Amino acid sequence: MRDKVLIRDLAKYVGQEVNLEGWLYNKRSSGKIKFLILRDGTGLLQCVVFKGNVTEEEFEAADKMGQESSFRIWGSVKEEPRAPGGYELDVKGLEVINFTHDYPITPKEHGIEFLIDHRHLWVRSKKQNAILRIRHRIVKAIRDFFDSRGFTLFDTPIITPTSVEGTSTLFETDYFDLGKAYLTQSGQLYAEAGALALGKVYTFGPTFRAEKSKTRRHLTEFWMVEPEMAFYDLNDDMDLAEEFIEYIVQTVLKERAEELKILERDVSKLENVKRPFPRISYDEAVEILKKHGSDFVYGDDFGGADETIISDQFDRPVMVHRYPAKVKAFYMKRDPENPDLALAVDMLAPEGYGEIIGGSQREDDYNTLVKRLEEHNLPREPFEWYLDLRRYGSVPHSGFGLGLERTVAWICGLEHVRETIPFPRMIYRNTP
Ligand code: 4AD
Ligand code: MG
Repeated sequence: MRDKVLIRDLAKYVGQEVNLEGWLYNKRSSGKIKFLILRDGTGLLQCVVFKGNVTEEEFEAADKMGQESSFRIWGSVKEEPRAPGGYELDVKGLEVINFTHDYPITPKEHGIEFLIDHRHLWVRSKKQNAILRIRHRIVKAIRDFFDSRGFTLFDTPIITPTSVEGTSTLFETDYFDLGKAYLTQSGQLYAEAGALALGKVYTFGPTFRAEKSKTRRHLTEFWMVEPEMAFYDLNDDMDLAEEFIEYIVQTVLKERAEELKILERDVSKLENVKRPFPRISYDEAVEILKKHGSDFVYGDDFGGADETIISDQFDRPVMVHRYPAKVKAFYMKRDPENPDLALAVDMLAPEGYGEIIGGSQREDDYNTLVKRLEEHNLPREPFEWYLDLRRYGSVPHSGFGLGLERTVAWICGLEHVRETIPFPRMIYRNTP
């Protein structure tokens, strides 16, 4: 009996006979030999079919299989430094499951629109495999980080009665007899209830923005992880954010080196991502922009180009804190030293990847929060439960949100966030 094995585990099977299953990535022939490149989702393996070692039918099947045909194959594992992955299969037999011809994505270059139209197939390619494996490892690092530091997972709803991050980017839906409901922009307000119940919590799930922005950093559906901590001020929040990002990046460097190589990522840029990260105020960031000839107007929020100028000054992520309150959300606490400023922080990734984290200390005073709702023209009634968090046992608390796709794009060194999620949703695309 031969074991059914994965390409990733072949090192353990050198000299043994094994079974494998997968798809034809590529093939070449030379006379009586066929080289089938098998892909099984964990790697690539060169399978060498000698005419004399298999039946005539099997040899013919190997000949007829087109790219992405699915098949079972068996034989003995050999070390072969010149083969992709370093191993080779000396084939004893094979069985085709599905003969495929005219697979639309060939090894030649295709345009991005064609590839995105075929996203359901494009995810099979080597680079896309590498990106999705890195995404998975980042998700695991995120969970490990919080789980090992006393945080409790606190799942928050997707269907909500109110906005969190402003009303202009809400997806709306009819909700039975209750009128309108909205797809959540952030689980934060609910996470705050969690923090007052459990101390330290995180929520991690899909969030939605009906963004009009058609940029390489925006999706309409993206994943966000949001920790929320009771008794944390803005400094504690920044300490946690930098420890978190260092952990994610260093873990991926260690655990997904091969995938980063497939993506030709310059890992020296990631190796720098070690604490402490620089921390500058909004005012200092504006100074940097002025020094670089920008016509930025004090009081505005930074655009993508501004963020790039600021982050280009540093070799690791930079945290910009204390923004003008009027460009930030209603729930942020004001700086006691200057009430025009919010106790907010954005973390900007290096190499022009822009804001990956947005966070703040929250307003914890009941009367002030009521005033903020009014200033932001938000209705009182749907926020009554949120105000309860200030009526009953209010404490200083803080949190932040990390955008998963922007983080994957940065770590993988990708041009656009559309390749960081299996099926991207953007203003001009909701298929496949
Ligand atoms: O800065 P944002 O809007 O912050 C919040 O939603 C807070 N409630 C988080 C909190 O304090 N708990 O979003 C947080 C992060 C951004 O820094 C960015 O990485 C990502 O979410 N993000 C997007 N990613 C992809 N596409 C979009 N349209 C995004 N909008 C935000
Ligand atoms: Mg933000």
